[in-house]
Amino acid sequence: MNAVELIRKKRNGQTLSEEEIDFLIQGYTRGDIPDYQLAAWAMAVCFQGMSEQETADLTMAMVDSGEKIDLSAIKGIKVDKHSTGGVGDKTTLVLAPLVAAAGVPVAKMSGRGLGHTGGTIDKLEAIKGFKVELSSERFIRQVQEIGLALNAQTVDLTPADKKLYALRDVTATVDSIPLIASSIMSKKIATGSDAIVLDVKTGNGAFMKKEADALALAQTMVSIGRLVQRNTVAVISDMSQPLGCAVGNSLEVKEAIQTLQGQGPDDLTELTLTLGAQMLLLSGIASTEQSARKQLLSCLRDGKALAKLKQWVASQGGDAGQIDQPELLPAAPFRQVITAEKSGWIRQIDTEEIGLGAMRLGAGRATKEASIDHAVGLILHKKVGDSVKEGENLLTLHLRHQEEDREVISRLQRAIQISSEPVKPPTLLKYLVTQAETISFL
Ligand code: URA
Repeated sequence: MNAVELIRKKRNGQTLSEEEIDFLIQGYTRGDIPDYQLAAWAMAVCFQGMSEQETADLTMAMVDSGEKIDLSAIKGIKVDKHSTGGVGDKTTLVLAPLVAAAGVPVAKMSGRGLGHTGGTIDKLEAIKGFKVELSSERFIRQVQEIGLALNAQTVDLTPADKKLYALRDVTATVDSIPLIASSIMSKKIATGSDAIVLDVKTGNGAFMKKEADALALAQTMVSIGRLVQRNTVAVISDMSQPLGCAVGNSLEVKEAIQTLQGQGPDDLTELTLTLGAQMLLLSGIASTEQSARKQLLSCLRDGKALAKLKQWVASQGGDAGQIDQPELLPAAPFRQVITAEKSGWIRQIDTEEIGLGAMRLGAGRATKEASIDHAVGLILHKKVGDSVKEGENLLTLHLRHQEEDREVISRLQRAIQISSEPVKPPTLLKYLVTQAETISFL
């Protein structure tokens, strides 16, 4: 086998075998195949696509390129959840304790935020003392003892994906559905879960801006799951405005606590119940969606889910008192409000700009090495379709300085557009993709 032959084969629209894909990926990871050959192959994939089987083979070749986490010591079907990323997406903070309270073992790896999107690890680190680097033994023992643990990635998972993603980034080959789908699924499979629930975001704050692209990505990932025996379902959900109202780490933890107290924003609550119901179904704990939702609602109402959050925080060294008294979480010393310049209805929110605005306030990172301030962020007072009066608050900024840079404020102001006509709010849930079918919620 040689790389030139395989690049030519893909360029001509032929299908590569499992062995051929493995040859390319392991050779590239070891450094035997140079960047320019993998770049040429990735470009051929962008034009010619990959079959379902090739995409699954690529996924498993990337899984096999590094370490894999073995969760077999944990009893039960381990179901992971993955979001393709967005603004104000604190779903994991609510969902993980909720489904754990209902009996699903949660052994989760999460990442930090970059650019306009936040990361679960950063949000959890807003809680005093919360540790995100558990040894493998402690991680597994905690899931066995309390049903839930979350870790930042420490072992060397999917090195092929890291190398290939960096190459794709500089060769205009990121935008290929099979390459994106295999990249995401390889990381999920390497972390050892038996089944996967995907939250694929669409809209102006999402990686996949167009609904059709989000649907195609979801269907490709569900097909990979089927071919590699990891039962996978995907929900396509709206990211044309931030999820909930809080953006910024400590503020998002507070909103997650409110949601577990049954007083959270409707969209965050509904998305959590929808994803949670799918997790209960895949784990075999519920047999119908209706009974899954009933179990989850009862864990919310009787306080079991909130108690699980406290137990989780305490087990990872965090101050559970901050969950009882969220006012003890880091708080920014200054506030500034942005008000509506005219009356009307919220027509559009530039979600990416809101995420970048929060990042500029200090809540996120422009580069991987940048540090963040857990206390700062913003609260959105209006969502798309809401009516608004001139002078009413649109955003409250939580700041570390008395006054924020004018340019940051004016960009945030421009991110929220007001119409003089009533506006229909976007639908939160768009599609559910299972191994058997795609169901439209629209
Ligand atoms: N996110 C990933 O993890 N991989 C991609 O290729 C794109 C987005």
